Amino acid sequence: MPTVTFENVSKIFADYAAIRNINFKIADGEFVVFVGPSGCGKTTTLRMLAGLETPSYGSIFFDEVDVTLVPPGRRDIAMVFQSYALYPHLSTYQNLAFGPRARHEDKQLTDQRIREVARMLGLDSLLGRRPSELSGGQRQRIALGRAMVRQPKVFLLDEPLSNLDAALRAQMRIEITDLQRRLGVTTAYVTHDQVEALTMGHRIAVFNKGELLQIDTPQRLYQQPVNEFVATFIGSPKMNLVPGTLERFDQSVFLKCLGRNTQLSDRQAKGLRSGDISSVNIGLRPQDVHWTQDAPGRCTQKIRGIVHAVEPTGAETFVIVDVDGQSVEAQFPSFSQIRPGDQVELVFDSEDLYVFDAASGVNLLSGYVRDGEALLLSA
Ligand SMILES: Nc1ncnc2c1ncn2[C@@H]1O[C@H](COP(=O)(O)OP(=O)(O)OP(=O)(O)O)[C@@H](O)[C@H]1O
Ligand SMILES: [Mg+2]
Repeated sequence: MPTVTFENVSKIFADYAAIRNINFKIADGEFVVFVGPSGCGKTTTLRMLAGLETPSYGSIFFDEVDVTLVPPGRRDIAMVFQSYALYPHLSTYQNLAFGPRARHEDKQLTDQRIREVARMLGLDSLLGRRPSELSGGQRQRIALGRAMVRQPKVFLLDEPLSNLDAALRAQMRIEITDLQRRLGVTTAYVTHDQVEALTMGHRIAVFNKGELLQIDTPQRLYQQPVNEFVATFIGSPKMNLVPGTLERFDQSVFLKCLGRNTQLSDRQAKGLRSGDISSVNIGLRPQDVHWTQDAPGRCTQKIRGIVHAVEPTGAETFVIVDVDGQSVEAQFPSFSQIRPGDQVELVFDSEDLYVFDAASGVNLLSGYVRDGEALLLSA
């Protein structure tokens, strides 16, 4: 399987820059997920990888070979499209066999592969049916199966699970991850669902407005997002962001936010790359804001507020609290019996704070590594 490299790649449609100067590598056998909001350039990037779009600038390599101008048919790639098209007049079996037949591949070998792929995807009892006699999820699995029958060098998947219901999506997520591990095929997978990205990818590439903001392991994206966009895009519920100011006294750094003054730990203060920035946004994940009655001992920073909304999710309850005019989401235990209008005390550990430049959104603490977690963080 080849290593895929994008070098200074841009794509301009008429006068619109869909992709702006992106650089990344997908290692041999690696599973990389492209994630980002609608219109950020995920499909365009995948289509350039497949050879269906030509970059306006820059180059694409498979190992050392420049494939920028190599047509799709000569790249040995299989792609499952966002809007897959099955042949309506052909059965499941014939749909799966269409590619290999067109390429005049060995009939017996093809038959073997189709039956194996059908078994893996739970399609073996549906081989005689036409697409109109199948559910959306079953059709989507045929589209996946067609790509798998091909045994490509590189596997490209564009939101292949978008038409499935939640249960089937969760199941297919595990199956595709497992399949990719077994086949060891270099894979790029597009989704706008951050849960899908975090659970499936070895590394995740976060796009926004045509730019590749960060490509990193799930842990590192979660713990060390490069900026506010990545920080709020990865993680559910979304990271809380509240405006604050930064003040230095000698070696100490204080954050003024949510009506209180919090001193950063020595390690955070050392890692802070703030220069003369004083206007910041403070980030805190809902999972790191606790109810006083149910908090780890290290959480000593107290804030008070009035409950605005309560969202039980089963195992835990997320509570939105008005604190000093700001909305802060906190994780409560499911048994808390909290109601809107209640006054509550919340606590957090200042070690869990993120600090972003209010003007640029840059994470002023990234590069900051927690004790004992260094192994998780090495890419
Ligand atoms: N052939 C084209 N001509 C002009 N503009 C295009 C073309 N293809 C894509 N675009 C524009 O480029 C941008 C990126 O599109 P792309 O399809 O890559 O987004 P995406 O991240 O896949 O979004 P989605 O999640 O909605 O599928 C969009 O603004 C889109 O309108
Ligand atoms: Mg798309």
